Amino acid sequence: MLKEAELKEAITQLKIEKNAVIMAHYYQEDVIQDIADVVGDSLALAQQAAQTKADIILLSGVYFMGETAKILSPEKKVLVPDVKAGCSLADSCPAEDFAAFKAKHPGHTVVTYVNTTAAVKALSDIVVTSTNAVGVINSIPSDQPILFGPDRNLGAYLQSLTGRKMVLWDGACHVHEQFSIEKIVALKKENPGALLIAHPECKQPLLVMADFIGSTAALLKYTQKEKHAQFIVATEAGILHQMRKASPSKTFIPAPPSDSSCACNDCEFMKLNTLEKIYLALKNERPEVLIDETVRRQAVVPIERMLDISSQLNL
Ligand code: 13P
Ligand code: SF4
Repeated sequence: MLKEAELKEAITQLKIEKNAVIMAHYYQEDVIQDIADVVGDSLALAQQAAQTKADIILLSGVYFMGETAKILSPEKKVLVPDVKAGCSLADSCPAEDFAAFKAKHPGHTVVTYVNTTAAVKALSDIVVTSTNAVGVINSIPSDQPILFGPDRNLGAYLQSLTGRKMVLWDGACHVHEQFSIEKIVALKKENPGALLIAHPECKQPLLVMADFIGSTAALLKYTQKEKHAQFIVATEAGILHQMRKASPSKTFIPAPPSDSSCACNDCEFMKLNTLEKIYLALKNERPEVLIDETVRRQAVVPIERMLDISSQLNL
């Protein structure tokens, strides 16, 4: 087995030889974020995948992120380090069930969070990420009823921000639902100067306590701008790497999960990806993300709508 330094060197060589680009989500291991050409939230990864001149995109994140890249850049080869890196939120919304849900609510604009399969995106009118969801929803005429899925927590939060009533799919992310309010309250007592910042996939009682709520990119930006020096961070712990790099003099405390016996604030799907799997994927050019062309053609429409609105909003 190659050592870490050898893997990094081999990955760099393969990237040059194959004109490949590595895109990594903020929840990846530090070492993966550090070798990636692009590190970002789901919106940034989609935007970069649509624009890149590379022949191969290695998407180190979860599977729906690789699918989004392939939907937007079908002529490119899109690789993932491990096909088993799924997402509990995307899995909470099977396409057949979502189609039945949609059929029960005719006349609704179907808005889906990007954490879905390509088949669910193909059933959608417009896709959102947590960075652009408010802007996208505000762009929908106010008399138009909305159906939103799959995240019930993000959906409820968006209803409160936009004042829009939405029919919500009952799905959630197991990582963001795990945070312990009691332990966060205790942490705030121990660290009275710390601000609580949270991803909108967290449950409502936690969001009510938060000093700031935002996507991974928004949380990172907030910690850079904000004068406070201490933050309790309620999202997957991978984001702390970029926070610490950007603000080395500040303190970042990962919000604790209810079950102390497990590191439930790590997304085990995201953490399936390793440097070695990235090396092997680039070397062997697999696992490759492949999508049925009919599904892809339907799924690209709501994603491109989202990207157009995001660029109008300078996001
Ligand atoms: P972001 O779009 O904020 O990066 O979130 C993606 C995600 O999977 C959160 O769990
Ligand atoms: Fe999916 Fe949750 Fe992991 Fe994000 S943290 S990729 S929503 S399982």
